[in-house]
Order: sequence, then structure tokens, then C-alpha cells
Amino acid sequence: MSRSAHPAGPRYADVLPEGHYVAPPADLNALDPRVWSRTVSRGEDGAVSVGGLDVRVLAEEFGTPAYILDEDDFRARCRAWRDAFGDEADVFYAGKAFLSRAVVRWLHEEGLNLDVCSAGELATALAAGMPAERIALHGNNKTTDEIRRAVESGVGRIVLDSFQEIARVAHIAERLGRRQRVQIRVTVGVEAHTHEFIATAHEDQKFGFSLAGGQAAEAVRRALKLDGLEVVGIHSHIGSQIFDTSGFEVAAHRVVGLLAQIRDEHGVQLPEIDLGGGLGIAYTSEDDPREPHEIARSLRAIVTRECESADLAVPRLSVEPGRAIAGPTTLTLYEVGTVKELPGLRTYVSVDGGMSDNIRTALYDAEYSVALVSRGSTAEPMLARVVGKHCESGDIVVRDAFLPADLAPGDLIAVPATGAYCRSMASNYNHALRPPVVAVTGGEARVIVRRETEEDLLRLDVG
Ligand code: LLP
Repeated sequence: MSRSAHPAGPRYADVLPEGHYVAPPADLNALDPRVWSRTVSRGEDGAVSVGGLDVRVLAEEFGTPAYILDEDDFRARCRAWRDAFGDEADVFYAGKAFLSRAVVRWLHEEGLNLDVCSAGELATALAAGMPAERIALHGNNKTTDEIRRAVESGVGRIVLDSFQEIARVAHIAERLGRRQRVQIRVTVGVEAHTHEFIATAHEDQKFGFSLAGGQAAEAVRRALKLDGLEVVGIHSHIGSQIFDTSGFEVAAHRVVGLLAQIRDEHGVQLPEIDLGGGLGIAYTSEDDPREPHEIARSLRAIVTRECESADLAVPRLSVEPGRAIAGPTTLTLYEVGTVKELPGLRTYVSVDGGMSDNIRTALYDAEYSVALVSRGSTAEPMLARVVGKHCESGDIVVRDAFLPADLAPGDLIAVPATGAYCRSMASNYNHALRPPVVAVTGGEARVIVRRETEEDLLRLDVG
């Protein structure tokens, strides 16, 4: 949706922030391929299909709301990242974006590694057969149980985040007779241009060891002395939904600076650096993300240049995209329940889900697109707000959207780019039942995470 100042008394200026005019798209039936997954298309009868399946058939068979995951798109994105970084680098998919056993198998088959940040994610990864040495464990407060399970199962690396944790991991590894490979997470002091809640490299936040404050160098000093640890590298993650790669340049510069300092002080060169995840995706046509090969080329170039000027061998690089792989693969299919026109304001379109299946709009002011998918329409555009069925007014799925003015109860609408941080952050608010994830490919659909039932809710409620 394009936003611009509209000097001539715009139709919607009174309801949009700061006199901004939201222009209706030229064609409400068009589906921007940057925003929708690659097998999505609108057929001749106007209905949309994904993975070769008509959304009306999917809704009939699996109900709504439902997350419809385009498996070919997911696998293609894995391959694009893998191929872009090549054999001299490792791609760790960030499981927090969305994880299930099927996803773990796809990652394994497509040659990716996996970043987990809890015992639950670790259990899912191991249950689906991801080799432990291809798993990294993250977190600012890993429990001793999580650390023990990770070390016992032989995870490839644990990313250390505090002085207490350095001692804890070393102690557990020594007791188990292991030498655990670890990276040290550093805070590089970059202001990432993203929402405050998903920026992680500025000084005043909970993750990592500060480079500027000297804690990062001290963490390396302590970790190198401990028999239970093999320090293999430095880790930095600057935030999420970032389009401007200059933050990664600064991060690479500072991380390589630390490697040089470690070489000078300890006479060792650490063999790995990880620059984290955080690459943005297109939620609307306004967003213009970069392709994995461009990102790979620029990160490699930066690291190589920085290493040359510090006279260091180029370390093995790794990255941890979550959203950039999972996000664009999925659409959420909803059925319209009520359409309430507020004359002179806008039309509220209520769907059968809401903040329980997509908290991102309420939490981060995230923007999404939406389209009528069960049919085409030639009706006029109407300014709409897509809201859920939960008992609060912040329950908004898409804040400003144009939908056809003939939209009616029973129509199906879809919100694209919901593959990351929607199912994984879904809740049972108002005792909503979390929707299923249905993977579609080549005209076949398969439930990979089933819909919750009332029995599931009552099973936890032990009376
Ligand atoms: N690596 C580390 C250490 C991370 O903490 C994260 C995300 C990632 C990689 C993956 O970031 P991605 O490529 O997916 O942006 N719930 C928020 C995002 C929180 C991200 C947390 N860490 C959202 O919905 O936008």
C-alpha cells in the first residue's frame, strides 16, 4: 500500500495518521509476488490457489483460520540461502520463527543447520533427526537442564551470553567429560533501524557481552581458561526485520576487531564468526528486501576486507535467518464473519482469528497485506481494517487495507507473509484454539501441526 502526503483534501485523510493518504492499489485482484509465496496464483474464476490447491478446498477440508505453508517456497528459500553462502559458510535456520518436525526434516534435506533457543526447540530438532552437531543453542538464560541436555546430546555449539553461563556450561561439560564448542555473543553497539522490541545490538538491553565496555574481551579471557569449553568464535545478532545492511557492516568490523584483539592478547585466532539473522522480508509492496546472494556477497566482502586489514585469516562465516526463510512461505486463511461500516471512517472486517494467531500487529505495529481470495471482485476499493474476534480493540490483524466493497460474510480473505513469528507466537487468549499449519505442495495438502481442540485445552486444566 503506498503512502504519500495528499495535499488535495484526500478521501481518507481524516482517519489516517498525519494527513497521510493511503492510495488504493490499481488492481485489488493483483497478488504482488514479492509478498505472496511463489506458488500462489489467482485462477480464471477469480479464486486463489496455493501449492496447486484452491483455497476454498483448503478451507473446506481444514477449516479456518489456518496457516497454509507453501513447501516448495520454503525449500527453495533454504536452497537459495545455502547456495548463496556456499561451502565456506554455514546457514543456521532460526527455529524461533517457526519450528515443527516437518520443517526440521526439510532443513536437514536442504543442507541447513538449526539454531534453537529452548529445550522445546531442541527436543523438536532432535526428535525429527537433525544431527546434534548441526544444532546451535542460544538464549540469555538457559537453564541448567537445557545446558545439560544440549551438552549430552552433542550440540555443535552453545552461544554463551553471561559470565554465570560461562561457568555453568564449563562445569556441566567437565562433569560429563566433554569439551563443549562455544561462541561468545557480543553486543556491538549498533542502532538497528527496526522496532525497539526486536533490536538487539544497542548497549542497553539484555543480550550478550558489550564490546565497548570490555565485557566481551573479559568473557573470552575467562572462557579460554576453562577445560570444559572450546571457544570457536564470536557471535553477533543486531536485530530483526532489517533492510539496511550497513548495521551488519559495522557489526562485522567490530567483531573482526575483537578477533584481532584476541589474537594479540592470547596468540589464538578464533576460527568462526556468526553475524546472526534479522534480514527483512516484504510484508507489503512497500518493502524491498535483498536477495540471499546479494546479502552473502556483501557480508563475505566485508568480512574479507576487515580481516585483510587486521592481518587475520578469514574465519568461517555463519548466519541465522529465520524470518527470511519462513516468513514469505505462509498465508493465513480466514473467513469473514462480519462487515461493519462506520460511515465516514472505515469498514471493520472481522475474521475468525486475530491476535491469538498473529500478535505482531498489536505488538510491533507490524504492517500486513490482505486480499479477498475465494473469488475475484470488480467492486470499488473500500478502506478496511481487518480485526479479530478477541475481546479487545487492539485485536487488529491488518491496520489499513483496501478490500473490495462487496466483501461479505463467508468470503475467504488471506494475509500473506505470516510464516514467521505467527504460529510460533500464537496464544490461547480467550481460549482460542491455535490454528493448524497445513503444508501444500504439488496439489497435495498435509497437516504438519494440527488444530488445537477443546480437549487439548481441557487436558491442561487439571481441575
Ligand atoms: N539469531 C538470533 C540470535 C536471534 O535472536 C534471532 C531472532 C534470529 C537469529 C532470527 O532473526 P530473524 O532472521 O528471524 O529476524 N518476534 C519478533 C522477532 C524476534 C526475533 C528474535 N530473535 C517478530 O515477530 O518480529
